[in-house]
Amino acid sequence: MTENGSGGKNSLTIRDNRTGREYEIDIHEGDVIRAMDLRQIKVDEGDFGMMSYDPGFKNTASTISTITYIDGGKGILRYRGYPIEQLAEHSTFLEVAYLLLNGELPTQSELDEFVHDITNHTYVHENIRTVMNGFRYDAHAMSMLISSVAALGTFYPEARDVHDAKNRRLQIHRLVAKMPTLAAFTYRHHQGLPPVNPENELSFTANFRNMLFHIGGGEYKANPVVERALDILFILHADHEQNCSTTAMRVIGSSDADPYSALAGAMGALFGPLHGGANEAVLKMLRRIGTMDNIPAFMEGVKRKEERLMGFGHRVYKAYDPRASIIKKAADEVFEVTGRNPLLDIALELEKIALEDDFFVSRNLYPNVDFYSGLIYEALQFPVEMFPVLFAIPRTVGWLAQWDELLEDPELSIARPRQIYVGSAQRDFVPMEKR
Ligand code: CMC
Repeated sequence: MTENGSGGKNSLTIRDNRTGREYEIDIHEGDVIRAMDLRQIKVDEGDFGMMSYDPGFKNTASTISTITYIDGGKGILRYRGYPIEQLAEHSTFLEVAYLLLNGELPTQSELDEFVHDITNHTYVHENIRTVMNGFRYDAHAMSMLISSVAALGTFYPEARDVHDAKNRRLQIHRLVAKMPTLAAFTYRHHQGLPPVNPENELSFTANFRNMLFHIGGGEYKANPVVERALDILFILHADHEQNCSTTAMRVIGSSDADPYSALAGAMGALFGPLHGGANEAVLKMLRRIGTMDNIPAFMEGVKRKEERLMGFGHRVYKAYDPRASIIKKAADEVFEVTGRNPLLDIALELEKIALEDDFFVSRNLYPNVDFYSGLIYEALQFPVEMFPVLFAIPRTVGWLAQWDELLEDPELSIARPRQIYVGSAQRDFVPMEKR
């Protein structure tokens, strides 16, 4: 038992009033107790032992990680110790990807090698186009992407050897590199346009936009403001510790599933409107509100809990999401080039009301990353169905960094939560004619 700074023991004494027994439970770094330590608390020997019940994992740490740090009360987000504001200002997406995957910022030669590796894995097997062509013209881009990532795994059967670190690294490079290619294919399919192959001389974001929007001959001309804005958005979305989709990635990965299957599962979790689908939901909400004079009635509906103010609130941030502040600033720069998105005024007014209204203030509801990102995406000509896809491309890096960390974890064990059964007690089968 260790002592804390004030001389007391770093432990909890729990008294079970059913039995009068006392238990001493260690407190670990970060004010944490191990849930398994509760199991010793029993009424008698036949008892299973005490469990904790935590729907939605609101107060349960599922892992020990060195990747991303969030202080939700203070609005702090850091990747590997570096503040998100500094990375968004000084770094590039691929440099941040290297940082998340390797733990340190790269030297110039390390970065060059990493960029080279990613650039040389951007092509996908031709048969993926056959998979893509099987979808109807109006299939959702995210559904197509999820399916094609799972399908991609069939081309790399060796990916199932997940305990070989070198092999894992190869699959990581493949997935980070091919994700924009697959994402662009979904868009071109939707538009009824032939796919555009990757151009290896272009940057990560310029190549992505070329694969999306290139029509006819001529070279792709990158607009530096647009490329940088997209790069910043990718940096901001690259990781966010143990959120719903990352937890899905780790849960699936814990069964030693291959990374393509695990990633497809994580993407499914991201697609939901309460998670990565929120940027799409925000834009649809802003369009539905339509004009400034509809705002008061909409906000009254939110306060009556008939609907949610999408892009607001967060499980962890109980302050302004630092990513939202950076995006708001980036939006101004983008709008100078593309023209102002008229929905911005509605968004700004919703934010202004919410930051002053007791309903939102008392619940610590602030804009999250999705509140303004959709407005930039729209200004950059992305259709709304591409928004979750634009979240998934950079988050692939975070999911894979977390998956890689998981497989190196000495405490790795298959995720298998407990339940509290409240269904029927044992009863005998009733034949059909007697029901
Ligand atoms: N609009 C109106 N009320 C809200 C909202 C909202 N966006 N978010 C939470 N509340 C209310 C909720 O009704 C509840 O009120 P009460 O205490 O009276 O029951 C209270 O605030 C706490 O909400 P909660 O649902 O218990 O909070 P949570 O931590 O379970 O949910 C959330 C977090 C993000 C799912 C939720 O805030 C939400 O649905 N927001 C809108 C969707 C959204 O923007 N999601 C993107 C999240 S950021 C991107 C990402 O990381 O995925």
